Amino acid sequence: MAQRGFFISFEGGEGGGKSTQIRRLKSVLRKNKIPFLVTLEPGGTPIGKKIRELLLNPKNKNLSERAELYLYEADRAQHVEEVVKPALKAGKVVITDRYADSSTVYQGVCRGLGVPWTEKLNDFATEGIYPDLVIVLDVPETVGLARVRARLSFDPKLHGKRRVVKMDRLEREKQSFHRKVRKGFISLSKKHPKRIALVDATQTPDEVSAQILGEIEKRWRRKLS
Ligand code: TYD
Repeated sequence: MAQRGFFISFEGGEGGGKSTQIRRLKSVLRKNKIPFLVTLEPGGTPIGKKIRELLLNPKNKNLSERAELYLYEADRAQHVEEVVKPALKAGKVVITDRYADSSTVYQGVCRGLGVPWTEKLNDFATEGIYPDLVIVLDVPETVGLARVRARLSFDPKLHGKRRVVKMDRLEREKQSFHRKVRKGFISLSKKHPKRIALVDATQTPDEVSAQILGEIEKRWRRKLS
């Protein structure tokens, strides 16, 4: 489907620095007066926020794997309809923190539900609307998990005081699960090198940002030509 606007998703395992890089990209777009919208999955709509609570609440230990996939897809269907489609139609740059490739890797590969099924459900939920560019921020799972733990137990806004924030249902998965997530994103990016850019997120934030901007410019030019 021909889309106006430009659609970017940020993907990867836990603690890859998506929030930092999205914040930096926002400031570049703002400086250049390019209209944009930043959103996320799960939880990019009011209905999605309710689904997010179901998905990430550590109490929901017995959520079935198939139900988990459908909940992510339900969140996505609502998100595409309510947020992504209208913004692209209005010609905006749409940046989403996670999208369909997260389901392919977390549910399709890591939960073992299968990539073909997951991709079929992704197609249905997204109505075939896929990013012009997927940025995968890649860090070894040990580094990513250490970052997540540091973030959860230390809040700079509280001047170094510790706060108690529990890790969410997915973050509590075993290290082997997170290793599989990393491998899944790496192999997906090798399978689709045109649409997915694998970025080494152990580099400095400046280096990561520069690489991301380079990837965006390349695709942007391709789309306009
Ligand atoms: P979030 O707090 O947004 O985590 P992160 O900062 O890592 O993006 O939680 C989203 C979690 O949901 C994350 O662990 C990845 C997972 N997820 C899936 O398993 N499947 C999906 O389709 C999506 C969108 C996310």
